[in-house]
Amino acid sequence: MTPSLAREARIAAMDWSALKTAVRDCTACGLRAGCTQTVFGVGDEQADWLLVGEAPGQEEDRQGEPFVGQAGKLLDGMLASIRLRRGENVYIANVLKCRPPGNRNPAPEEVAKCSPHLLRQVALLQPKLILAMGRFAVQTLLGTDASIASLRGKLHRYAGVPLIVTYHPAYLLRTLPDKAKAWQDLLFAKRTFASLD
Ligand code: URA
Repeated sequence: MTPSLAREARIAAMDWSALKTAVRDCTACGLRAGCTQTVFGVGDEQADWLLVGEAPGQEEDRQGEPFVGQAGKLLDGMLASIRLRRGENVYIANVLKCRPPGNRNPAPEEVAKCSPHLLRQVALLQPKLILAMGRFAVQTLLGTDASIASLRGKLHRYAGVPLIVTYHPAYLLRTLPDKAKAWQDLLFAKRTFASLD
């Protein structure tokens, strides 16, 4: 087994506590050297809803919690609009646990090194529904480069878990007309959730 497959297998066998320690102590890519702290994820570890974003930004890096900056305020508002709240039956995590410098896009090797942590979070949570926000969450969980526009409005699955694709809140801050589409996606997610047994 290659060292990288062995690492993935070790991560895939971790419980919450071991996984949190592994993320905290991880230096598998260069990002940890340039960030303040790792941002593991936040919420109810029995949550039915899992929201997946891209990577911590400046504010998340400072506070150690996902989506607490401007994009996070929008996300909280979007959640409230479908009567959800962070921490209440909702877990929020990112593909990367460390902030890329200057909020640049995650590099493929950073995603490759960090995504096993997210995949283990999904396996431990066993959510009923995943909302993948933006292209890095979608690429990581669905393994496709297809556009968000082409994937929205359809029910996908990751490891058997229903998955719905929507725009990233930071993109919505820059592209206000697409906010209405994100609202449609949330309603679709809520309907889908209600139809699950
Ligand atoms: N954008 C993300 O993808 N995640 C965060 O935690 C904050 C901004």
